[in-house]
Amino acid sequence: MRPTDFILAKRSGEEHSKDAIEAFLSGYLAGEFPDYQVSAWLMAVCWRGMSATETANLTAVMAASGDVLDLSSLPHTVDKHSTGGVGDKTSLVLAPLLAACGATVAKMSGRGLGHTGGTIDKLESIPGFQATLDEAAFLRQAREVGVVVSGQSKDLAPADGLLYALRDATATVASLPLIASSIMSKKLAGGARSMVLDVKVGSGAFMKTERDARALAELMQAIGENEGRSVAAVLTDMATPLGHAVGNALEVREAVATLRGDGPGDLTELCLTLAEQVLHASRLDCDRAAVEQALTSGRAYEKFEAWIAAQGGDPASLDSLEVAPEQEGVFAMRAGVLTGVEALAAGRAAGALGGGRSKKGDRVDLGVGVVVHHKPGDQVAAGDRLATLYHRNDRGLDEARRLLEGALTIGDRAQTAPLILSVLPPRS
Ligand code: URA
Repeated sequence: MRPTDFILAKRSGEEHSKDAIEAFLSGYLAGEFPDYQVSAWLMAVCWRGMSATETANLTAVMAASGDVLDLSSLPHTVDKHSTGGVGDKTSLVLAPLLAACGATVAKMSGRGLGHTGGTIDKLESIPGFQATLDEAAFLRQAREVGVVVSGQSKDLAPADGLLYALRDATATVASLPLIASSIMSKKLAGGARSMVLDVKVGSGAFMKTERDARALAELMQAIGENEGRSVAAVLTDMATPLGHAVGNALEVREAVATLRGDGPGDLTELCLTLAEQVLHASRLDCDRAAVEQALTSGRAYEKFEAWIAAQGGDPASLDSLEVAPEQEGVFAMRAGVLTGVEALAAGRAAGALGGGRSKKGDRVDLGVGVVVHHKPGDQVAAGDRLATLYHRNDRGLDEARRLLEGALTIGDRAQTAPLILSVLPPRS
């Protein structure tokens, strides 16, 4: 394989064969081809695109580039992926909810890069929680508790890790086939038979329009089906943060409230919808009413406690999680209707306080963040507290306040979008 021929083929708009993709990526992983050649190819993909078959082949090659988890001994293995939103703590609620419905959630999750942490950062705000498990412990807990979530192994789809770092440095992230193959390679290597994809739409999301989000969702469904997985997708609005809390421990607190039946309506609704879809994909006999029952009866919360305890966390600490001791309010300047809570700016505000990472390895302050007390459409009076900033020693406070004040808009009438824009049930 001559890498220049491969790059030229894509630059000319040709379709690669699976063998050619395999040869190119294995040459790169073996250190035979330099970063600049792979970067040139990534840029050609951005401009020329890839066919659905090519994208499925690229995904399969990336998924097979490292370890592939064998979950075949476990019943009804399910997984979920969110394309990333502000205040998105659904995994914390969904995982035990699915286990309470008879599914097995054996999931690898990331430490976030961005305004707030990922699922693992959030879980690590629970004292004692251990995110590093060897494979035997991971599988044992999946079998015994029905839910286990560990940090993403670097041995899972390593080709994606390398390509993603190059994409990040060469402005080649924003390509439908590259995003779809990146996400799905990790999901396929993660081993679950059925999955649900929460594809976010809006200012706080990768996909700014519903049309682009649908195209991404359908492409990922096709990739999964090509590998014998059953994949549902839900397109959801991310113009506004999900729930009220943005920030690691604050989000765990909100997830706990949701599992106790006292969570925000949007978060609860999204978790129920995602659960219903993925249970349907895995052919478990558990309809919407049964999912609601698993939540309201407290069974999902019991699973949550069992899961946290199995990974070394102290369930007794859930009522007193450490959050930043200093708080400051943001107040309404006038009376009216809250017309928007801009998700991206609210996320940046939490990031400014120290709640996220701008580069790998940055230390995250798990206690800081933002709680927005109102939703778009709420009537507010002048002077009402709209949001609270949880900060430590004023770090980032001025910037966070400026961002949040800009994020909260008041007018005379609100146009609110539904949270669930579309449901794409599994096609196989
Ligand atoms: N998330 C991923 O894992 N990969 C992408 O390319 C984009 C979002």
